[in-house]
Amino acid sequence: MTTLVEKVPFLDMASITSALSGDLDNAWKTVLNHGYFVGGPEVERFENDFARYCEAAHCVGVANGTDALELILAALGIGYGDDVILPANTFVATVEAVCTVGARPVFVDVLPTTLQIDADSVAAAIGPATAAVIGVHLFGQMADFDPLLRLTNRHGLAFVEDASQAHGARLHGRRAGSVGVAAAFSFYPGKNLGALGDGGAVVTQDAGLADRIRQQANHGRAADDRHRHDQRGRNSRLDTLQAAMLSVKLAGLDHANQARRLAMARYVRELPPWLPTLGTHPDAESVFHLAVVRAKHRDKVISELDRNGIGWGLHYPIPCHRQPAYSEFSGSLPVVEQAAMEILSLPMSPTISDTQIDRVCEVLWDESA
Ligand SMILES: Cc1ncc(COP(=O)(O)O)c(C=O)c1O
Repeated sequence: MTTLVEKVPFLDMASITSALSGDLDNAWKTVLNHGYFVGGPEVERFENDFARYCEAAHCVGVANGTDALELILAALGIGYGDDVILPANTFVATVEAVCTVGARPVFVDVLPTTLQIDADSVAAAIGPATAAVIGVHLFGQMADFDPLLRLTNRHGLAFVEDASQAHGARLHGRRAGSVGVAAAFSFYPGKNLGALGDGGAVVTQDAGLADRIRQQANHGRAADDRHRHDQRGRNSRLDTLQAAMLSVKLAGLDHANQARRLAMARYVRELPPWLPTLGTHPDAESVFHLAVVRAKHRDKVISELDRNGIGWGLHYPIPCHRQPAYSEFSGSLPVVEQAAMEILSLPMSPTISDTQIDRVCEVLWDESA
């Protein structure tokens, strides 16, 4: 006799979109009917709504989150000869953007409880060439911006948010995207706010910066004359179809984030104590992009998850400063390095059920037997 075991996917994209399929269908049909596939009313509407959602004054839709970071740095005039400080445990895109504009990445360590960028490590890394600090809001929690803003203000540096994993998160009452000189968002499908393909946005309170980025991302084209090119630009625009899809999903983002919070609370209650979740700042309203635990014997835990058909992920097993492509910027970052050996991401999505979470936890309790 075979026993039926319930498989739990790491991220069930189909279940997230199927609940919205009627609205998504209407949205793309509207675009098909009017025929503007670049720009048009959907992009403008999404930009306005997303700026409001982030409690920021301006939003510029762009092609992806990596471009958003690069466009921000370039529009701030950061490039050759400048240093940009960033945490080493981030998706590689953060450092890619720094290098693409010609600046030098300076990797720093993170706090052992939350794994968010450590302000003391930033303070120690500031030097005469430092131009900016990128605060990555990792796993759905905001980096503690208070000490970072004190530092960047004191030293006259730009504080840029990489909010690609934190759509809707708050800390000290402030929304991700509303704190720095500008924030980059990715709408990669698996994000808390994900498109049905690539997409990204820059959000800022600074009208001049928003205008420069909008021009730059649209071939350097002047706002008042499409045949005049004031800057040497590029093409990094948010597709109209993706903007239409994103507006549908933005309407449900708070609800989806609340479902993630409940899922995380259940993990915290049900997981065995030898698999601790990460700490959260007491003043944080996090959106749990990922459900990260620390596992001392990670390989053993992973085998057990595999044996039981449970999905998992690693974010990130090779920190940026240990990546071959960035080895010239390597150094010793003990907290990041220890975490890279232990972190394990469990299934998480706004549609994960209590039964699925209980199944994951049951397998993890059994793993120790
Ligand atoms: C922290 C972080 N920064 C930047 C990016 C880059 O976004 P994209 O894949 O849209 O270029 C991502 C996306 O995975 C991310 O997680």
